[in-house]
Amino acid sequence: PESLRVALLGCGTVGTEVVRLVTSLGPELTSRVGAPLELSGIAVRDPDAARDPVVPRDLLTTDAESLATGADLVIELMGGIEPARSLVLAALRSGASVVTGNKALLAAHGPELYEAADAAGVDLAFEAAVAGAVPVVRGVRESLAGDRITRVLGIVNGTTNYVLDEMTTTGEGFDVALGRAQDLGYAEADPTEDVEGLDAAAKAAILASLAFHTRVSMSDVVVEGIRDITVDDVDAATRAGFVIKLLAVAERRRGRRDGIAVRVNPVLLPVSHPLSSVHGAFNAVYVEAEAAGQLMFYGPGAGGAPTAAAVLGDVVVAARRRVLGGRAPVESAHAALPMLGPDEV
Ligand code: HSE
Repeated sequence: PESLRVALLGCGTVGTEVVRLVTSLGPELTSRVGAPLELSGIAVRDPDAARDPVVPRDLLTTDAESLATGADLVIELMGGIEPARSLVLAALRSGASVVTGNKALLAAHGPELYEAADAAGVDLAFEAAVAGAVPVVRGVRESLAGDRITRVLGIVNGTTNYVLDEMTTTGEGFDVALGRAQDLGYAEADPTEDVEGLDAAAKAAILASLAFHTRVSMSDVVVEGIRDITVDDVDAATRAGFVIKLLAVAERRRGRRDGIAVRVNPVLLPVSHPLSSVHGAFNAVYVEAEAAGQLMFYGPGAGGAPTAAAVLGDVVVAARRRVLGGRAPVESAHAALPMLGPDEV
């Protein structure tokens, strides 16, 4: 079968890991999709900037528009609103499927983008926009589509969770911990997005829209960040049997003012709460639904490789839809081993 042309817009921490995965998993991805994926180009601002050697220099271009409209599948990892919004719209209108990790874009312009995807009959997928590798978008959007969700409670920013966790376990100051979160590739290009709770608010808006089948945008979210939290606050919380976590909460309110309330703010959680044991840059989303009960989606929430895994998952599903109408290819080889022994688990 003909190969699918995949365009990558943006090549930062996550984009670089996407290139590495596509390169290293090539033949496996081909068999999962039913056709080869060919990286047709990588749009960047500065082609001469220093980059990881895994990124093929001959694929770099500054002409994002031509790249985006000449591909079967577009991966948008530029971040920010413009030019990402115009490029995603142009790609969708040209008939390309789009995979994005851009939470700010979705939180501000989601409905416009979903409508463009519907009109073109193509996929717009964004698992990587919320909680990195944790499959919570798919969980809320698809697995729980037959239930009624009542509340979503989440640690959805890896940077702030890492900073608060380091302050708690090592007694390290805020700025030192934040510097390390940046070095580890967790933070946004502008880390005030993380610290002020804006990154979490964008994710909360996306999750609330999916969970409650309604339009929730950034401006509907009440936000307070963690800038003012000191090592003394963290110590006092620990002594009293609590941990400080930046939580995103979205819930259905019934009563005089029916509606959805969404907020992001630091809270004191009792150490016995499951969300208290989410450490480092891990994320967790706790979902309460009427029939399913309580579920927790948990895993690496930030960083290049985990977020790239979520991007590639969406790419494989979208590519499969284009090749096989959404069916998974039938596995032909039989490679199962007999039952595991007790020492192998
Ligand atoms: N800066 C984000 C975080 C990256 O720390 O969670 C993942 O969206």
